[in-house]
Amino acid sequence: MSGNETGRIIAIASGKGGVGKTWLSISLAQALAEAGQRVLLVDADFGLANIDVQLGLPPGPDLGEVLAGRSGLGQAVRRHAAGFDLLPGRSGCGSLAGLGGAAAGQVGALLRGAAARWEVVLLDCGAGIDPAVRGLAALADTLLVVATEEPTSLTDAYAVLKLHRRDRPGGDQRVVVNLAADRAAGEHVWRSLDTACGRFLGAGVALAGIVRRDARVPEAIRRQMPLLTRHPMAASAEDVRSLAAGLNAISSGARN
Ligand SMILES: Nc1ncnc2c1ncn2[C@@H]1O[C@H](COP(=O)(O)OP(=O)(O)OP(=O)(O)O)[C@@H](O)[C@H]1O
Ligand SMILES: [Mg+2]
Repeated sequence: MSGNETGRIIAIASGKGGVGKTWLSISLAQALAEAGQRVLLVDADFGLANIDVQLGLPPGPDLGEVLAGRSGLGQAVRRHAAGFDLLPGRSGCGSLAGLGGAAAGQVGALLRGAAARWEVVLLDCGAGIDPAVRGLAALADTLLVVATEEPTSLTDAYAVLKLHRRDRPGGDQRVVVNLAADRAAGEHVWRSLDTACGRFLGAGVALAGIVRRDARVPEAIRRQMPLLTRHPMAASAEDVRSLAAGLNAISSGARN
């Protein structure tokens, strides 16, 4: 990043819970960092923040403290050995979960400020489509909607895409298929969303990437280690690197 350019805010949402948003956010942060980007990963799940748990981090200042004015951003952000910076969240923080207008504005200002200092600000959003998630999605330069082949994931992902088009007309939204049996199965999931968006919302949706189901993912999570550190050659690690490369290619293309 140079001159007055600001970084890019990427939000990861899904509607349905448990589809791999948090794991994917961590892995994508590491893949982008490996590709040379300065990345800030923000735990923006205001209901059940848990990036710190997946990474086995000790407690410390978090987003809640920063918003309450008890900690500066610089104090709360930690450098992870995997090469990215991390702003932990606060689990069960009711005041953030119900994010009202003023607090939402504060979060927006904080994230835009962060985008002036980091090249990529990645937001791991909570499940659901409450106003906090919608606000974060609308704020982002790119929204990645994670979907799996489960029918409930597809309907929830479609709802997120639809609301995002209402909240940010013309905004950049793309689908990531996670837990795919193989590439063809992943493409099938994306095509159903693309077709539904084309038919009912007037335009299809782009595919950002497909990540295969991989037994090494839960294994690394159990050990509280990032996958790309523990299993750098795993199939899912390869998929996350391709996803990162695709995002970078589009991002630099858009800036040139
Ligand atoms: N590609 C994958 N292969 C195998 N297992 C996966 C994969 N991606 C995610 N998982 C499994 O899915 C579980 C849920 O992942 P994660 O906590 O990241 O989901 P989430 O969408 O953030 O959930 P929540 O909505 O509760 O925040 C993980 O514990 C992991 O075991
Ligand atoms: Mg999560």
